[in-house]
Amino acid sequence: MTREKPKNLWLSRWGFILAATGSAVGLGNIWKFPYITGEYGGGAFVLMYLACILAIGIPVMMTEIALGRRGRGSPIDAIARVVRENGSNPLWRGVGLMAMLAGFMILCFYVVVAGWAFAYTWKMLDGSLAATSVEALGQVFEQHNANPWLLGGWSVLVALLTLWIVAKGVQKGIENSVRWMMPGLALMLLILVGYAFTSGSFSEGFAFLFSFDASKLTGEALLAALGHAFFTLSLASGAILTYGSYIPDGQSIARTTFMVAIADTCVALLAGLAIFPVIFANGMSPAAGPGLIFMSLPLAFQQMPFGTAFGVLFFAMVSIAALTSAISMIEATVAYLNEKYGISRVKAAIGSGAVLLVISLLAMLSFNLLSGWTPLGKNFFDWLDYLTSRWMMPLGGIFMVVLAGYALRGEIMRDELNLPPAGYALWLFMVRYVSPVLIMIVFLHALGWLGFDPLVRWYWIAGAIGLLAILGELFAPRVRLVLANR
Ligand code: PFF
Repeated sequence: MTREKPKNLWLSRWGFILAATGSAVGLGNIWKFPYITGEYGGGAFVLMYLACILAIGIPVMMTEIALGRRGRGSPIDAIARVVRENGSNPLWRGVGLMAMLAGFMILCFYVVVAGWAFAYTWKMLDGSLAATSVEALGQVFEQHNANPWLLGGWSVLVALLTLWIVAKGVQKGIENSVRWMMPGLALMLLILVGYAFTSGSFSEGFAFLFSFDASKLTGEALLAALGHAFFTLSLASGAILTYGSYIPDGQSIARTTFMVAIADTCVALLAGLAIFPVIFANGMSPAAGPGLIFMSLPLAFQQMPFGTAFGVLFFAMVSIAALTSAISMIEATVAYLNEKYGISRVKAAIGSGAVLLVISLLAMLSFNLLSGWTPLGKNFFDWLDYLTSRWMMPLGGIFMVVLAGYALRGEIMRDELNLPPAGYALWLFMVRYVSPVLIMIVFLHALGWLGFDPLVRWYWIAGAIGLLAILGELFAPRVRLVLANR
């Protein structure tokens, strides 16, 4: 069977590495990782997180890239082509659809958080963060969110920048922009770590991140680490698969994956080293939760020499990190519309942008006008987050590793990954036995189904029957083939 010719390819070997690192490094690294590390007590959490990156993150990322490059296209089409080549059920492309939708839905609330980062760069400059207590800064944050025009304006700015870059194309838009944004981000981060080293309580921050306390190795922390590994590497949301489809043949998927995962992890740890010393130098708590960078940190910066300048630099860095992630979330949709319906990228970006603006408007209004609208106990913003990170990403991840590890003929992935035999065997072992089991545990726990409540068992049974039915349907051609060949 002839392979699909790629429509787009990265110009240089670094194209994918920079773009995928740009996708991976985002609010997850600079906003979420430091505060969950703070909440779960530091070093022990960091260790569990590293283990999860190795056990799930890397094998799943390799799988996604390989599926993308083999099928050469947006998630739906790439998976459809791979399963056609394999003679499997075309329904598998639903996994691509779910991933694409997940990326789009994440973007709908991500633009709001990214908008905070952009707004705070400005606020740091114009003096509106010159408060003297964390409480006062909490009020600044609340006032910002209570004003739909302000909150909406910054989010729309992020959305427009994102769409503009994506509309310009894979090479001229995405690759060109990450080529300067990623080195810029690395430089800013190093300057901030240098600042924390010279002006903050560096040894205290360092000890907090890296000293190991076995009593903190709890199941709860492990689950948080597992869930975060998925989000931080942008897995099962269409981004990595689509970017992977632009990698030239012959570039090593394993080596590339390791580079992206290492870069992502280094940024998370360096962000911790930039933030915690500053927090400790001002006697604040590392466990301040989601407000850590928007409330505690601005105050801490202001109490330090040249703090305002470094505060501006910090929020500018967060803004760039968020923007390079945002573009990857919508690329799958734009690529799909372009490929499937022949719509130009500009029109595809405008069309999907219009839908994005409507849905993200609801996410913005969750903080003010629509804050009272909480169907089933969650506002719209929380629903988007909940559906994507609790359901769609883990489910998508399981289906992808099951597809690659069980449903596809061995030679497809072996060809694409092109690893030495021991490396291939290790990958296969991980995607067959380790990753799906670990993801399943996080998934069930996150849904609260790992309790001992007898009622909960009905969910288990119904869920297991449903899953078996879907898997049976998906595997039917393969099973028939095996039986027929006997
Ligand atoms: N990896 C990004 C972060 O850590 O902020 C989030 C993300 C990007 C998730 C792209 C999903 C995605 F498709």
